[in-house]
Amino acid sequence: MGRPKVLVTHPLFPAARAILDEEFDTQYLTPEQRRSRQEFLSQVADKEGLVVLLTEKVNEELLVATPKLKIAATVSVGYDNVDVPACTKHKVVATNTPGVLDDTTADFAWALLMAVSRRVLEGDAWIRSDGGWQGWDIDQMLGTDVWGKTIGIIGFGRIGRCVARRAYGFNMRVLYTGPMRAPNSVEENLRAEYVEQEKLLRESDFVTLHVPLKPETRHLISKDALEKMKRTAFLVNTSRGPVVDEAALVEALEAKKISGAALDVFENEPTVHPALLGRRDVVLTPHMASASVETRTKMAVMAANNVAAFFQGKKPPNTLNGDAFQWQ
Ligand code: DGY
Repeated sequence: MGRPKVLVTHPLFPAARAILDEEFDTQYLTPEQRRSRQEFLSQVADKEGLVVLLTEKVNEELLVATPKLKIAATVSVGYDNVDVPACTKHKVVATNTPGVLDDTTADFAWALLMAVSRRVLEGDAWIRSDGGWQGWDIDQMLGTDVWGKTIGIIGFGRIGRCVARRAYGFNMRVLYTGPMRAPNSVEENLRAEYVEQEKLLRESDFVTLHVPLKPETRHLISKDALEKMKRTAFLVNTSRGPVVDEAALVEALEAKKISGAALDVFENEPTVHPALLGRRDVVLTPHMASASVETRTKMAVMAANNVAAFFQGKKPPNTLNGDAFQWQ
């Protein structure tokens, strides 16, 4: 019996390739092969293992086209690209990469928060523009203070808590909300107060999103939610684009119902709502919150180890549908 055939949709990083190449008959898709879904489906058809990025859907269509597939590993913590119940139905183990990107993502949420409230990108663009900055003045580039304000964290899992930890240094009041209240010890340690979402929206100077994309979180930040925010408040999104109703956000910005937004994720990536592109009160980045060399390498290694564990007959450490399987 030959080595299991594993398709990897991206070359990833040497550390992950070393794990995969040692154990499997691996195939890495070329950029051309990645571009077409049909090509991707034809390449994966005879594979037993699959490593994907969040841009590829592991859905019924793919699972029907891959009768030999046993494991699908996404190199992301968010797994809205993977239809987990469909994987279970087709007896395919699904895995993700939790835990290794929490601090890196939290750092970036803060970078966005600071950038939008202190107008970092506007300042940079001004200096570089023709005939730009002519010298210091008292009322130039006035932004909004961050320290001492109230930050509202929607979603208080691992990443939300890392965001809260950083707020301590800015001497901020920390509000959070989510489906479950954190243990007292966590609240005390992070000086975080659990509140209903409505109170969080009404009282926060910065609202930052850290929820997974699920039917119940789609458009969590709706027209109605935006109406509740302070006119002086900023919205930060490093979770998933569809958590925010982008059209409603544009309307709220145009009507000055909030002061600005910093978005790393978008409803229809890689397309960005055209009205956002011309606005100076928004900061836009291309889904890069976890993009550090260290973290992306750890994510890729984690995905490779999940696949390796499976074919060694062990339950992969980051299995999403473990209950459905008997492990040796
Ligand atoms: C994830 O892992 O879900 C991020 O969106 C990309 O790191």
